Amino acid sequence: MMKILLVDGTMFGRKTGAILEQVEQYIKELDASFELEMMHFSQYKHQIVDGSPLNDDMKKMIQQFEEADAYIIATPIFQASIPGVLKNAFDFLHPKTMRYKPVSIVANGGTYQHHLVVENQLKPILDYFRALVTPNYVYTHTSHFDANNNIVDADVHSRLRELARVFVQYCEMSKNLPKETIDQH
Ligand SMILES: Cc1cc2nc3c(=O)[nH]c(=O)nc-3n(C[C@H](O)[C@H](O)[C@H](O)COP(=O)(O)O)c2cc1C
Repeated sequence: MMKILLVDGTMFGRKTGAILEQVEQYIKELDASFELEMMHFSQYKHQIVDGSPLNDDMKKMIQQFEEADAYIIATPIFQASIPGVLKNAFDFLHPKTMRYKPVSIVANGGTYQHHLVVENQLKPILDYFRALVTPNYVYTHTSHFDANNNIVDADVHSRLRELARVFVQYCEMSKNLPKETIDQH
């Protein structure tokens, strides 16, 4: 059974998690056979990558990343970039952790201007990991939510549905792609 790790990269808000829950729902509707696991960064005691011995939360986080077969990564935008805590989490991982594993991205910002953060900053990191990044990603903005953080924008819903559709197909494709490589890189 494929294990999907849904990473909620916010530390204190609710919108990133709300988009992720919606994606989870759309994936379930398409394929009930996946094992879906939610990871909320806000529930972990994060440690900076400085060479210190790992605490239990960071050990658990790394293990969850390693054991997953595919990922949905949801992140807020901070200072026209990804939050340090997400980059820091990536820095803990062995470079082969996400190799040839499907990844879809959803991101949320306070301004419309920062949607290319996904394209220019998050995707290159996932490309370095040689993840199977789906061509679709979804960027949301505060105005797509109501006061209770429900997604009220119909277009966002259809984009999330399409993201789930492509992601599920990428998961199918990755099953037949052995993670062992011929080269040594
Ligand atoms: C430190 C900080 C920096 C931020 N910088 C940006 C930014 O550069 N561009 C942007 O669109 N939103 C920015 N925001 C707004 C967040 O992206 C927004 O609060 C977040 O996506 C809300 O999601 P959440 O409820 O899941 O935390 C920033 C927020 C914080 C706290």
